[in-house]
Amino acid sequence: MSDRTIFDPDDPEHAKTGVPFGELAMLRRECPVARTPGGAWFLSRREEIDQVLLDVESFGSDMTPGTGIDGVENVPDEQLFLPEIGEPRHGQIRRLFNSALGVHRTQKIAPFVRETCERLIDGFAEMAEPDLHSAYAMPIPSHVIAHIMGLPEGAPEKLIEWSFNGSVMFRPASPLFSPDGPPIHAYLTEWVAEERAKSEPSSHTVKVFLEAEIEGRRLSDVEIAHQLQTMVLGGVHTTRGLLAHCVERLILMPGLFDRLQDQRELVKVFVEESLRHDSPAHRVTRRCLKDATVGDESMKRGDWLSVSLASANRDETRYDEGDEFRLDRPDSRDHVAFGGGPHICPGASLARLEANTAVEALLDRFSAMEPVDGITYPPMPANLSYQPLPARLTLH
Ligand code: HEM
Repeated sequence: MSDRTIFDPDDPEHAKTGVPFGELAMLRRECPVARTPGGAWFLSRREEIDQVLLDVESFGSDMTPGTGIDGVENVPDEQLFLPEIGEPRHGQIRRLFNSALGVHRTQKIAPFVRETCERLIDGFAEMAEPDLHSAYAMPIPSHVIAHIMGLPEGAPEKLIEWSFNGSVMFRPASPLFSPDGPPIHAYLTEWVAEERAKSEPSSHTVKVFLEAEIEGRRLSDVEIAHQLQTMVLGGVHTTRGLLAHCVERLILMPGLFDRLQDQRELVKVFVEESLRHDSPAHRVTRRCLKDATVGDESMKRGDWLSVSLASANRDETRYDEGDEFRLDRPDSRDHVAFGGGPHICPGASLARLEANTAVEALLDRFSAMEPVDGITYPPMPANLSYQPLPARLTLH
């Protein structure tokens, strides 16, 4: 195997230099099914990625890498996160997520999202050079998820902390946090028990999970806590990434802010192009459930796959000038930023609502948004970590 077929998606350099789109383009051309230094398969082309995302019989989701557990088979059933649950149970539990997060629900919470954006803007509108990452992009998703779940005051700050320090990915089966689990586990399990004791639960979301009967039995508090944790790990960091990318582009792309002011109908297109061009979830993981063939490669049961959604979203066979950020693509929603197949993101309409509202609220309050003189804006890190986004704002 030549050196060129090895790609390290975990290269710490990417935290400084951003997603290595040049290398990904080379892989798509020369080695669409490559290897990682750890021996996983690395997929970069839309064709193979669509195949793997759709074929859940051959490729299973497994979120244990990096948490000290050697595969999902070592996790007790009660502690499985939604993507790791086998069919048909995955589909049955996923219906509860759809009930909590579908378009009909997100429309109901639109006023809360708008108020949250307004309130945060009030906090920095008069400042000279506010950091719109920490003051805006970061808090919005955790406030919204805490609201959807009906969590008590103080929860949004905790959700941000646990998403940032990575503990949201762990569970009691992970040796690092065994046997009590990470702080989010204790917090949610206790809260679910309190909700169960109430005559009327605090939110539609928790009520749906408490009342659901699947295969003839109710979910336990621990099971519900893990599903709510899945919502946090799926929806806080990722949406923060989308919002940060949108804000960054509004600050840095010449003429964009004015254009969106004049053509508000383009805000939705702008958000979709951001999802495609700067996919917040760079990649997802799969594991072969049986021997399989992808491209020219034969894979064995148990093999790991790293699936680059960021790369698929720039695939030149699918997009003209995929590296360009354009608002005139034939179908702005043609991307895999939310995945595909049976695991496609159930929070997509919520994420879209948050991003559209956040951009609209900025356009309504300010007439200009510009970079701060003398400051360099390095590329956003590839691993969804934090980078300040200072801006000069002019009120209407
Ligand atoms: C811009 C924001 C978001 C992005 C880019 C994103 C991306 C994704 C992707 C790529 C997947 C598929 C993962 C895979 O195939 O392995 C996924 C699944 C999931 N997402 Fe999102 N997501 C976002 C927002 C949200 C929100 C707001 C929530 C919930 C509040 C959420 C909850 C979930 C859940 C529960 C799954 C697992 C679905 C399943 O396995 O059936 N996501 N998301």
